[in-house]
Amino acid sequence: MSSFKPLVFSGVQPTGNLHLGNYLGAIRKFVALQESHDCIYCVVDLHSITAQLVHDDLPSQTRSITAAFLAAGIDPEKHIVFNQARVPQHAELAWIFNCVARIGWMNRMTQFKDKAGKDRENASLGLLAYPSLMAADILVYRATHVPVGDDQKQHLELTRDIAAKFNNDFSRRIGELGIGVEMTMGDETLNGFFPLTEPLIEGPATRVMSLRDGTKKMSKSDPSDLSRINLTDDADAIAKKIKKAKTDPEPLPSELAGLKDRPEAENLVGIYAALAETSREAVMAEFGGRQFSAFKPALAELAVEKLAPVAAEMRRISADRAYVDAVLRDGGERAGALAEATMKQVREIVGLLDD
Ligand code: TYM
Repeated sequence: MSSFKPLVFSGVQPTGNLHLGNYLGAIRKFVALQESHDCIYCVVDLHSITAQLVHDDLPSQTRSITAAFLAAGIDPEKHIVFNQARVPQHAELAWIFNCVARIGWMNRMTQFKDKAGKDRENASLGLLAYPSLMAADILVYRATHVPVGDDQKQHLELTRDIAAKFNNDFSRRIGELGIGVEMTMGDETLNGFFPLTEPLIEGPATRVMSLRDGTKKMSKSDPSDLSRINLTDDADAIAKKIKKAKTDPEPLPSELAGLKDRPEAENLVGIYAALAETSREAVMAEFGGRQFSAFKPALAELAVEKLAPVAAEMRRISADRAYVDAVLRDGGERAGALAEATMKQVREIVGLLDD
């Protein structure tokens, strides 16, 4: 019996502007992984209607995230770029996973608790079931590796729980059909159909924080635009936001331990390290003992140098809507063929007649 073929999958929601957290925590890693893996990158439009159903600009947001993928350097010919709604097998597998996952698992998700707020009874059922669709996104390709920021860690643990329960519940059937991969789970060996996906959450920028409050995640939904650097910001806006970023009065420390209880300093050092593609230790070796008044201009210059070409390329690609649509159509067809091959087997495992 073979093992699972290495395959990378990840997704980004088309809601609001992409920011530095999305770029450093996810998209830049997507680009790097293309060298070593087959990759599928998806604009997850079905996810974006879970928190708010009506979006005036959903099609343009979807195209804009696609343009960002391409501008950052994702190759849509060697790999696959598409939007989720084009491949209905995601939603089909999500339904099956809704019957695998337990309500208790969903209720424990911190993102659900945050997004639903106090009035949980009034949140959409889609928001509660969101992680089940996310598991389906990944597992409909039987993807083995998922690059994401730290905030998605719990959802990926749940993806593994769903895969493990499905494998376990259907182990005999998977074995009879001869389509499984031998897996050890605890002290048992069973026939698994879905891999236990590995999250890829590494490097100095897995959790980029708000520029206004180092204890809060940088986010699309923060009402203050000064809290984030958008991928579309021009050089002046980037420089201004870094200049206004909250800091403390102490100079930068020379060692990691000195960042303890200094969330804003820690965040800016992490951003610098990620942009410069170096470690936080190396940044502190260079800037330790210096004031923020010296560090901030260096950070602004580096951010402009790294982000301005991506923003310019994004504008250029966005202007060619026909090209963006052609990428999504082609990616959707290729993804659809892979997803249907998985679903044929899933229907067979579960016992759903389809021919
Ligand atoms: P989304 O659209 O909120 O964010 C896209 C990616 O950006 C990362 N990210 C961050 N990384 C570092 N610092 C931050 N401040 C920051 N903010 C966001 C996210 O971790 C993510 O990797 N549920 C997902 C989308 C999704 C998905 C999937 C991802 C749907 N299906 C399947 C992977 C695999 C989400 O809402 O990401």
